[in-house]
Amino acid sequence: EKGTYPHFMLKEIDEQPIVMRKIIHEYQDENNELKLDHDIRQAMKAADRIYIIAAGTSYHAGLVGKEFIEKLAEIPVEVHVASEFSYNMPLLSKNPLFVFISQSGETADSRAVLVKVKEMGYPALTITNVPGSTLSREANYTLHLHAGPEIAVASTKAYTAQIAVLAILAVDTAKVKGLELDFDPMQELAIVANAMDVLTAQKETIEQLTRDYLATTRNAFFIGRSADYNVSLEGALKLKEISYIQAEGFAGGELKHGTIALIEEGTPVIALATQENVNYSIRGNVQEVVARGANAMIISMKGLEQDDDAFVLPQVHKLLTPLVSVVPLQLLAYYAALHRDCDVDKPRNLAKSVTVE
Ligand code: F6R
Repeated sequence: EKGTYPHFMLKEIDEQPIVMRKIIHEYQDENNELKLDHDIRQAMKAADRIYIIAAGTSYHAGLVGKEFIEKLAEIPVEVHVASEFSYNMPLLSKNPLFVFISQSGETADSRAVLVKVKEMGYPALTITNVPGSTLSREANYTLHLHAGPEIAVASTKAYTAQIAVLAILAVDTAKVKGLELDFDPMQELAIVANAMDVLTAQKETIEQLTRDYLATTRNAFFIGRSADYNVSLEGALKLKEISYIQAEGFAGGELKHGTIALIEEGTPVIALATQENVNYSIRGNVQEVVARGANAMIISMKGLEQDDDAFVLPQVHKLLTPLVSVVPLQLLAYYAALHRDCDVDKPRNLAKSVTVE
């Protein structure tokens, strides 16, 4: 039930810190050690390459997960859009593990890939919010998101839950492989949960930014580099699907290779700047678009902020910034849809789970 909330989406955005704490609790044993099935550990350890298969927002979470698994567990990862994979299968490694990410566990495009790879005899792990779902039942292994029911069509808390569970999976695998890590995922996720509390209390600020940047626009660009690029894709998808503003997420350095032609006087450009190693270059990209008239908004992180930044996120571990940078983007999309009188929870042409290929 919505309770006092006007929309499920807003309620689900606000639930994100609670979901983080629930995940910390569920994936930890009484000795504060990571808790995962032995079989999943063995499957991760045995894989020479991981193929993440997903659609939409879950695909965007997969892009973030790739970075965790490659950097922490040192296993190469490919992330594929489910509907493309079936018909244009890449050359597979010798011992692949397929990881399906799906909030609903019912997405037909992902299921088609699962059926195919099972026929080929490969192991599959499903990461889902619905343990009894088709993708969960048909895979060899399941990891549960523990996000609670997600009702709004636009996915919010499932995305952050997917990223948190992928971080835990990556660290757990690193430990199983005996790799040295100076990253305690539970401690860092607890910091993230507190940061999310701070962010969800700043709704009025974000609503004002929506008025300043997105009130009448027909289009918008989201830019970022590395981890911020992955989140810019998700920010654009959220805005498109519920406010119907045409939006595109771009790698900061790629804009000048064509798309910058679309920047006009007043075009909103929302730039994420949470990564120290690209802080200078993303700010350079912002100057490029501002010089062409863009109405640019920089969302940065404590420690990297500059005077004119529109919004400064609380500091979290550099690998986990997507968990906090996505929150203002979710809220921007929410308020943009609200101000345009769109049906926030049930956008046109969309269903909560897409059960046709
Ligand atoms: C966007 C959204 C969709 C879903 C996609 C996959 O907000 O909700 O893009 O993420 O349809 O759905 P699941 O995760 O259920 O497989």
